[in-house]
Amino acid sequence: MSGGTQGGPEDAPAPGAEHAAEQAYSDFRKNLSYGDYLRLDDLRAAHQPITDAHDEHLFIAIHHVSEVWLDLIVRELLAAMALLERGITDAPLKMLTRVVRAQEQLTNAWEVLKTMTPADYLQFRHAFGQASGFQSQSYRMVEFLLGNRNPTMLRPHAHRPDLHGPLVEALHGPSVYDLALRLLSERGFAIPDEVLQRDRTQKPELNEAVLQAWLEVYRNTEAYWDLYALAEKLVDVEDNFRRWRFNHLTTVSRTIGMKRGSGGTSGVGYLRSALDHVLFPELWEVRTRL
Ligand code: HEM
Repeated sequence: MSGGTQGGPEDAPAPGAEHAAEQAYSDFRKNLSYGDYLRLDDLRAAHQPITDAHDEHLFIAIHHVSEVWLDLIVRELLAAMALLERGITDAPLKMLTRVVRAQEQLTNAWEVLKTMTPADYLQFRHAFGQASGFQSQSYRMVEFLLGNRNPTMLRPHAHRPDLHGPLVEALHGPSVYDLALRLLSERGFAIPDEVLQRDRTQKPELNEAVLQAWLEVYRNTEAYWDLYALAEKLVDVEDNFRRWRFNHLTTVSRTIGMKRGSGGTSGVGYLRSALDHVLFPELWEVRTRL
């Protein structure tokens, strides 16, 4: 973190490298420091292994960074959706690009976690009992905002109104794809009412009229450039979502094999079934029909 600050001699000539560090601000008894601004004491205080196992540090760190990226993705999706709702497409495209890049970081995290072997994991597995990523509120928010909805997923959050409330709101509100379809309708495409007013608590199903609308967009990209760019950005998001899921599944397989998950599901079997889910069905089918 650097750049212009109040009261700093930014216009002074650049010092030689050997003296540069000496010119840095060093008295933070009254001024906000880097660590204060970022609340690094709080951040480090959250890192609390329960055992002495070396790899528990890695396990906690990867979950923490993943949660931070997921929170950022939720924020970007909500901001993009608020603008899409008003018919604006340029700024949401930029926000969705950020989502795509953040997803890449999430997926890269598996590379670090995979250095943990099953034997390493078993050193601390007993410590966290029934805790599981299945109970990640941020992950569920991302799924709900993207349209993968299942009211059962609310249950682990029932005891926490602060986490449950936003999930319920997202479950009943439009998904990013619902907003894209609303935009198509506002631009004159024939999107059926049954699609625009569908039961949002359920996953969307492929609809022929929606597919015809996207076909028109993909056949006339210059005329509908922003809709086309939005559709391809959503495909990027789903593509990355699939990669994260696939890498999670592979990491889980190599760490716990076919054991049940700590969250109570069948484990690998449950995660494998999630791979079949399609978020934006018409955007994948359009490729076959073009
Ligand atoms: C070796 C490490 C890991 C193992 C063995 C593991 C295992 C599992 C298993 C078996 C499930 C299925 C639910 C259950 O019964 O628990 C699950 C779900 C989940 N895990 Fe992990 N996991 C690991 C790392 C991570 C990490 C680093 C994250 C990052 C946030 C994560 C996020 C999730 C999420 C979001 C779900 C819910 C997926 C869904 O419902 O589709 N997991 N995990």
